[in-house]
Amino acid sequence: MAERVAIELVLNGARRRVEVEPHHTLLDALRDDLALTGAKSCCLVGECGACTVMVDGRAVDSCLVLAAEVAGADVRTVEGLAPAGGGLSTLQAKFLEHGAVQCGYCIPGQLMAAQALLETTPQPSDPEIEEGLAGNLCRCACYEQIFDAVRETAATAVVEPRAPAAAAR
Ligand code: FES
Ligand code: FES
Repeated sequence: MAERVAIELVLNGARRRVEVEPHHTLLDALRDDLALTGAKSCCLVGECGACTVMVDGRAVDSCLVLAAEVAGADVRTVEGLAPAGGGLSTLQAKFLEHGAVQCGYCIPGQLMAAQALLETTPQPSDPEIEEGLAGNLCRCACYEQIFDAVRETAATAVVEPRAPAAAAR
């Protein structure tokens, strides 16, 4: 068996060190080594978006990224979305308010894709919202409700990019 590789990263604002299998993906590392199971394992080929997390401010399919590739990066998962004081972020609350959550399987990925969109484009047009969420499938077909939740968040809340995390490198 190949030797595990030690990496450091900033995960949801906290510096972490973890040993990963060299062939494991970021999704594997999050779920198996870091006990963060919010990002979901589904197609594993970059087609469904259920595994979406943010890496250095961009939404990425964590099933397509090797864990070793995120050494030194700022990684955010759905577990880090809620405010530190508890409760829900505005985006999460809007998902609930609009009934965007049915089985919930796609929702962590949808939230992280939407969060990345709103941080880079705080006032997205409808086509920009569609494009920002295009990589995230919902088998319960909650697309309209998800779209409305994102549009209303953009209209009613300031989604600030988080302050740059301390470099882990
Ligand atoms: S599990 Fe990663 S895109 Fe589907
Ligand atoms: S809420 Fe069920 S897959 Fe989206």
